[in-house]
Amino acid sequence: MNVTVRGRARHFRTVAFDCVRNHVLLIEQRLLPHKFQIVPARDFHDTARAIRVMAVRGAGAIGAAAAYGLAQGARAFRGTSQAAFRKHVERVRAVLKAARPTAVDPVNAMNRVMAAMAAGKTIPEQQALALAAAEEFANDNVRDCQALGRHGARLIRGGMTVLTHCNAGWLAFVDVGTATAPIYAAQAQGKKFHVYCDETRPRSQGATLTAWELAQQKVPHDIIADNAAGHFMQRGKIDLVIVGSDRTLGRTGEVANKIGTYTKAVLARRHGIPFYVAIPLSSIDWNLKSGFAIPIEERHQSEVLGAWGVVAGCKAPSPPLRERAGVRWRSALTYVRVANPGSTALNPGFDVTPAELITGIITPAGIFKPRELWAKRRELGWSG
Ligand code: MRU
Repeated sequence: MNVTVRGRARHFRTVAFDCVRNHVLLIEQRLLPHKFQIVPARDFHDTARAIRVMAVRGAGAIGAAAAYGLAQGARAFRGTSQAAFRKHVERVRAVLKAARPTAVDPVNAMNRVMAAMAAGKTIPEQQALALAAAEEFANDNVRDCQALGRHGARLIRGGMTVLTHCNAGWLAFVDVGTATAPIYAAQAQGKKFHVYCDETRPRSQGATLTAWELAQQKVPHDIIADNAAGHFMQRGKIDLVIVGSDRTLGRTGEVANKIGTYTKAVLARRHGIPFYVAIPLSSIDWNLKSGFAIPIEERHQSEVLGAWGVVAGCKAPSPPLRERAGVRWRSALTYVRVANPGSTALNPGFDVTPAELITGIITPAGIFKPRELWAKRRELGWSG
């Protein structure tokens, strides 16, 4: 999407690759909305670290980062033994896979890269195929998101207010986004509507990233506190909810998404408000049979006990805190403790919304009832 930096609008992808330097290029999302910066991940360990500390985040973006990271690791291999190469590639995959557990996109993306590499005979051939497959994954991600927009735009009518949770925007994918795809497509059709962004504590991706994205794209919006959605729904101020997903079970239609999504789905059902989930094909898990089997990431308690933000004239946080939050200190960005000193916190990153609370799943192939996914599996990229 276009980003205006110092008065100049330029197009950026969230994740890209520098094949001369063998670097994965990322928008450093922990600095947004305060600073826009592209950073290189110089080797596959660096790419895995960027995923782990959420310099790059969002299901599709970490899928593309993992695909490029696998190609990056494969391309860095210098030996001639096929056995050593295979072992090396498996290790790269394991390191990248371990970076974050809930989203299935990195697994699906790396499976695609591995499958493509299998067609190569020599090591250089396999290295070239790995990069081509990663590029293809990234391009498909963009095409999927554009298709979501075409299908989902009809859900948005002029005068509506749409609620979204966390950031399932272009920052969470390679471009365009999922929950935001119908929003951007409806805007392009000239419809006038309003968006509420859930703040999305503890990391506030709604208040920081979605709000920044919508402002960049000139979509009218307000940030609301996570606790406020019920109030607005009760007063008839929300007409439609669209969220993203980090893993959607193709067999059951259950959706894992940012913590708080389930609560919004329950509220939407209570108030008769349509609740849609927008997904690219890479977010579908065709294997798991129950939402309870989805690995839910447990994040550090410091995220709940405090918050990151910009403070004028503040001091740098102590080294252990800096390390934990994974942000290299930059003059204005700081962490403040909010909670009672000495209290501990629990911090699950995601929750699972059952199929019966979901009105429809917006996919690149059309909009389906959650329980229709399995019947439509061939259309939706299931490879059996
Ligand atoms: O922890 P994050 O920021 O990587 O979480 C992912 C998300 O942004 C949301 O869950 C989103 O709604 C899913 S779509 C990428």
